[in-house]
Amino acid sequence: MNGQYKALWLNKDENLVVLDQRLLPFEKKEVIITNTQECIDAIKDMTVRGAGVIGNTAAFGVYLASKEAGFDIEKLKILSNKIRESRPTAVNLMWAVDRMVAVATTCSKETMCAVLKQEAINITDEEVIATQKIATYGADEFEKIVEKKGKSKEDTINILTHCNAGWLAIVDLGSALAPIYELQKRGRKVHVWVDETRPRNQGANLTAWELSQDNVPHTVIADNTGGYLMQQGMVDICITGADRVSRNGDVANKIGTYLKALSAKDNDIPFFVALPTSTFDFEIYDGVKDIPIETRSEDEVKFIRGIDKKGEIQELQIVQSVSNAINYGFDITPARLVSGLITQRGITKADLKSIEKEFSDLL
Ligand code: MRU
Repeated sequence: MNGQYKALWLNKDENLVVLDQRLLPFEKKEVIITNTQECIDAIKDMTVRGAGVIGNTAAFGVYLASKEAGFDIEKLKILSNKIRESRPTAVNLMWAVDRMVAVATTCSKETMCAVLKQEAINITDEEVIATQKIATYGADEFEKIVEKKGKSKEDTINILTHCNAGWLAIVDLGSALAPIYELQKRGRKVHVWVDETRPRNQGANLTAWELSQDNVPHTVIADNTGGYLMQQGMVDICITGADRVSRNGDVANKIGTYLKALSAKDNDIPFFVALPTSTFDFEIYDGVKDIPIETRSEDEVKFIRGIDKKGEIQELQIVQSVSNAINYGFDITPARLVSGLITQRGITKADLKSIEKEFSDLL
């Protein structure tokens, strides 16, 4: 991975450009976001998704909103709050909006535009550095783990991941995929088991696409396959990203993550979670009880998207209309199932004491 991939950027008109992640891997289309409503729509309809990129989009959204608000702080607060409420689980969204609004309150009308643009760029740049550090800490740890298992430097490291936590989700290396890119850069042989991640298939559509861009060997598996692979010794390490991690180390991530963590525990396979510090919610002490979980439309379960033989994107119904469906976007993996939290500061145990000690300056 050489950092050539960007999930979002400003164009010459100072509007935000994002990739339409709903169409990947079949079509690569750029979408231009020029105002508050377009920012909200892009987050809600998942044109952009993934905790980090949602936060970045929201930060630039607040910058765009400031123009709409005529640089009036009270009007800006109202627009920002609408952006803040566009999705409920990934805390990077609220974190980024709050940071932007806090900075806006220190500005005059004359300086607000330039200051907010720079703050959104700063948020994004800080995340790029965080992912580079996650890459190094994670790869160091994974090399130690497989060495302990008796694997040689020539052996393939088999890593299982769920959903998409690559550069489409966190600029510019991703969180869970960052150590994988780093291992490959170090000349290690890596193979990734990619959970398809129903119902929206972020693994099959986005992670597989990302990995293929960088020639990382990978195999897409149906979501139910991971447990069997772990039992058969075909997985060395599991790693996922996170949408919100509570003060006690519970992890909210894409629905299905918890089941993989349970299988990993039963098979004595390390289960890591990678995140920038902006994904912590230190106000929540019990993630299982208190992290809000998004419920999305049942249509995401009842319909599936793909391309037909002519290469055209189509949507097919796979559940009869009369049946109900329920679509929780995320689940919570309790801290006790997490082997370590990989952040830009290193690897921290997933428990209250360790988190409070490592991140005392952020509490
Ligand atoms: O609903 P999504 O696609 O936004 O969910 C994304 C995930 O759950 C990712 O795994 C998560 O954001 C971690 S990587 C930043």
